[in-house]
Parts: sequence; structure tokens; C-alpha cells
Amino acid sequence: MSLATAPTFDKGLANTIAAETQMSFIDGGKGVLEYVGIDIDALARNSTFEETVYLLWNRRLPSRTELESFTADLRAEYELPGGMLDLISKLPRDATPMHALRTLVSALALHDAEADVEGAEANERKAIRLLAKTPALIANFDRFRKGKPFVASDTSLSMAANFLWMLNGAKPTDAVAKALDVCLILHADHGLNASTFAGRVTISTLSDLYSAIVTAIGTLKGPLHGGANEEVMIMLREIGAIEQVEPYIMARLKAKDRIMGFGHRVYKAYDPRATYLKTFAKQVATDTGNLSLYEMSRRIEEIMAREVAAKGIYPNVDFYSATTYHSIGIDLDLFTCMFAMSRIAGWAGHCIEQLDGNRLIRPAAAYVGPHGQPYVAMQER
Ligand code: SDX
Repeated sequence: MSLATAPTFDKGLANTIAAETQMSFIDGGKGVLEYVGIDIDALARNSTFEETVYLLWNRRLPSRTELESFTADLRAEYELPGGMLDLISKLPRDATPMHALRTLVSALALHDAEADVEGAEANERKAIRLLAKTPALIANFDRFRKGKPFVASDTSLSMAANFLWMLNGAKPTDAVAKALDVCLILHADHGLNASTFAGRVTISTLSDLYSAIVTAIGTLKGPLHGGANEEVMIMLREIGAIEQVEPYIMARLKAKDRIMGFGHRVYKAYDPRATYLKTFAKQVATDTGNLSLYEMSRRIEEIMAREVAAKGIYPNVDFYSATTYHSIGIDLDLFTCMFAMSRIAGWAGHCIEQLDGNRLIRPAAAYVGPHGQPYVAMQER
């Protein structure tokens, strides 16, 4: 295989630029994240998930009428295709939600006549369907596994509020819906993270958008990536009380364990998403009687700052999202599904971006095995 230039081995691709994007800008040293040039803190404080998705996909904020039209397009697609509820009802009740979500998104393709239709416009329509229907997949699986009746979507509600309505069978308070909406904004896109890169690899072969999103869901599931928020909650439960934080964390650090919710491949400063989420988590925890969880998190942060901040290890988005999700009543094993629900916006945006000037993504591997080996007949082995 001839290579244009001498190849370099970059384990984990930590220092490799594999794509150009117009959606997220990240300055890991300064802890800056912008969506199409707008600071993430400004978006979290002022925008909505629907408006943020429009921004990411269209590279600009919408006018009022454009936002109303986009929101209507999304709400028109809330409903699941016939047969999906039957499929959900046939899944094992004890299935891991991320396995269920990966399976159900894959099945959605079977109900989309445009699944294999190429072109930006068809992919934009598929992106809207995928984003609009994923909340129903997650909520209906949770209802099924708990033996509760399905709840039909309500097109008068925002994506965040509609998800909570379908999940709980009760309309959320404005504060709880807002908390989820902020989390959806904060998780929508983040450059070439592992799951986004995986999705781009899939679509670069000219496979379909559903296949690329399924690839990304499987990649997000890992505890080093999207699965960290569940692990943070498990850690908080294991610690149990604020007095146990120091001995627990010190023992884990001594054992060279990774403290979930901390560290980042790019951020060597505070993850700006965690900055806003931390203040939000305190408010939500206070309002819902979960302040002890927030205070334990703060104590963990203090100890990690003392012990490892010098190595550039700070809280990432998953650390305070755990307390927020728990406080608004989301089950622990649905936390990563929340991440996926939001990141479909980034994944679909990157897939459409990849196809604009696409080149098959196919890096090299350095062969480090033997050469010149003889074939040994079975009777001589
Ligand atoms: C997300 O990429 C993205 O953008 C992802 C994401 C997104 O929006 O898509 O931001 C979402 O995935 C956030 C990250 C969630 N993951 C976790 O919280 C899991 C815990 N974090 C670590 O596993 C780790 O920080 C990674 C995987 C996130 C990044 O690790 P790197 O860049 O591969 O760094 P490394 O493993 O080489 O670690 C460098 C040093 C090591 O110490 P030394 O061996 O040099 O002494 O830092 C230490 C590590 O041991 N370290 C940690 C640590 N993370 C790194 N030590 C303790 N706790 C941690 N969490």
C-alpha cells in the first residue's frame, strides 16, 4: 500500500485531525466550547434544545418563523411507526436500555421508506425522524419494562417535556422540563468525540444514516465515553455519605483507578459544560431534596482538585449531569440514553457534513507481526 507521506502512529488519534467541522469549536486548554461560534454557556442560559439543533444543522440561529416551522416538523415526527410498540413489547424486560435503544433505532430504519435514499435533503428528513422518535423509543421501553401502559406523545410539548410526559405519564413541571432541556443542549455536539468519529467512519462508506447512528450509539455506550454518567451515580451510591468521600477517592486514586466524570481527552481545564451544569445541578438537587448528592459531588471535586488538577484532570460534562438526571427522576440506567437522545443532533449533523466532500475514512495500521512464516501441515503441528 503506497502512502502519500511517511505515516505516523498516533495511539488513540489524540493528535490527529480527521475532519473539518463548522459545528463545535473546542479549546481544551482554556475550557471553551462554542456551537457555530456561540458560547455554550450563552446557549444553555438562553436557548432551547430545538433552537440549538437548528443552529447546529443550519449553521445559524433561526428566525421566529423558522424555529416555529422546524419545531412543527419535529413534533410531526414524534409518533413511532406502527409495529415499533409491538417490537418493544417483545424485548426482554431486563435488557440494558442502551442495548434496547441500539436495537430499536436499527429497527426504525425498516419503517423508513427513505432509509437508503442518498442526498442531503433525504438525510435531513431522516435526521428529523431519528431525533424526534428517539425519546419515544426510550420512554416506551422504560414503560414496557416496568409493566406500565405506553403513553402517546403529546405534540403540544417540547422534546424535553414530551419525553418526561411519555416516561412518567404525567406532565413535568416547567423547572424539571427546563433541567432536561439544558442537559440536551449541553450534550448535543462535541467535535470529533469517539461516537461521532465512529458515525463519520460508517457514513464515509456511503452506508445509510441509520447505520451510522447505530454505530454511534454502540460507541457512546462505553464507560470511557457516554457511559460515564451512569458510573458517576454508581460511585456516589457506593460512597454513601460525605464523610466517606475522602477515603474512597484516595483509595481509588492509589489503585490507579479512573474516577468517572473526571478527565477528558481534550479539556485540560474545566469542561465548560460542567461549569454551567454544576450551578444547575445544585438548584435542581435543592428543589428535589437531593442536596446531599450534590454536596458529595462537590467534595469529590475538592479532593480531585487537590490531588490531580495539576495533571489537567477536571470534572467533565458527565460529573454533574449524573446528579441532575437523578434529581429529575431519571433512572440511573437511562442516563446514557439521555446522552444519546441529545447527541443524535451532533451525530446526524456530522454525517451530513461528512458527505459534503466525502472521502472514505480508512487509516493505516502498522504491521508488527512476523514475516516469511511457512505453512505447516496439520499432521506436523
Ligand atoms: C465524554 O471526547 C469527547 O468529547 C467526549 C465527551 C463528549 O461530549 O462526547 O466530552 C463526553 O465522553 C466525557 C468523558 C467521560 N469519561 C469519563 O469520565 C471516564 C473517566 N475519564 C477517563 O477515562 C479519561 O479521562 C478519558 C478516557 C476521558 C480521557 O483519557 P485520555 O485522554 O486517554 O488520558 P489517559 O487515559 O492517557 O490519562 C492521562 C493520565 C493518566 O495518568 P498517568 O498514567 O499519566 O499517571 O491522567 C490519568 C490517567 O491515569 N487520568 C485519570 C482520569 N483520567 C485520566 N486519573 C483518574 N481519574 C480519571 N478520570
